Amino acid sequence: MKEFKIVPTIRMYPTVKEFLEDTHPGKGDLLLTNRFLWENYFQGSTEEVRVLFYEDYASGEPSDEMVDAMYESLKGEQFSRVWGVGGGSVLDTAKILSLKGEESTAQLFATPAPLPKSRELLLVPTTCGTGSEMTNIAILEIRSLRTKKGLAWDSLYGDQAVLIPELVKGLPFPVFGTSSIDALVHGVESYLSPKASPLSRMYSRETIEKILKGYRRIREEGKQVLAETAGEFLLAAAYGGIAFGNAGCGPVHALSYPLGAVHHVPHGEANYAMFTEVLRVYEEKDPQGETLKELKTLLSELLETKEDVYTALEELLNGIVEKKPLAAYGVTGGELEDFTQAVMTQQGRLMANAYVPLDEKDVAGIYRRLWK
Ligand SMILES: [Fe+2]
Repeated sequence: MKEFKIVPTIRMYPTVKEFLEDTHPGKGDLLLTNRFLWENYFQGSTEEVRVLFYEDYASGEPSDEMVDAMYESLKGEQFSRVWGVGGGSVLDTAKILSLKGEESTAQLFATPAPLPKSRELLLVPTTCGTGSEMTNIAILEIRSLRTKKGLAWDSLYGDQAVLIPELVKGLPFPVFGTSSIDALVHGVESYLSPKASPLSRMYSRETIEKILKGYRRIREEGKQVLAETAGEFLLAAAYGGIAFGNAGCGPVHALSYPLGAVHHVPHGEANYAMFTEVLRVYEEKDPQGETLKELKTLLSELLETKEDVYTALEELLNGIVEKKPLAAYGVTGGELEDFTQAVMTQQGRLMANAYVPLDEKDVAGIYRRLWK
């Protein structure tokens, strides 16, 4: 059985001003965002709203300890709506804050039964990457386990996903680069997933196409075209969220999590470090599979190449984010074995979505080849 669904109501506004006019911020609203976003877009319109600044609790990607600290500072306060306005880390954290959570966040991640949502949830992405606004998934670093873990509960879907191109027009290029590469990986991993359906593949293809066309424009016309193409990248990220929300992500994400958690590498950058090598292993193990052949046809059309598509892809992506060996992030030879074990024991949910099953030897080999 294949199932496909899009749960949040999707609202699109050209500007934040128009969004606020429709949404009536006020008492009972909790806004989780970054200080610069609040100063630029919300200050003056959200007097009665309880505002939390993400960076007051964490400097990088979200962890269980950080969410616990937020819960602590909100103790005794009542909210009927939670707004997450920011990148994937902010949106994932807002999802957890919309739950009726009483236990510690690490316990929450160990709970087998989903907790109910207790507050309306509005998700407003300000990067073009995670697609978190469309999914029922929240990823946190669990400090005691030294890795990232995901929850996938229907109660984590936003009630509204709000797309506002104005918010992504001025993204610093490195943030744009790592976040949009994450969206591209969502498109590719969901396309190859055994859980994919014709409907999810339609969104996967559209994600890949929009992003690679956008990257080619950047290569040809320069980084300033980002202001014009921001809306397309924002849509691509949302499509990617719909695609992987239904078909799942796979080993690229699984292998990137230990790197992200232990060495605090941004999610999209950690994905890119693994991306093409995982595709090459797929190619080695089963070059004749239908979905990989279709993907390669799509990539060779978009990249206008008849040569090795993986090399052409890497050449294009290197103009967006520089690919570095794992050693450049401080990964030691001894850690490669720990990473492999973390993937094999803690990332079964993602590894099950591989195009072709990868065993411990495959994973260790990928890490070794990417090390130096
Ligand atoms: Fe991702």
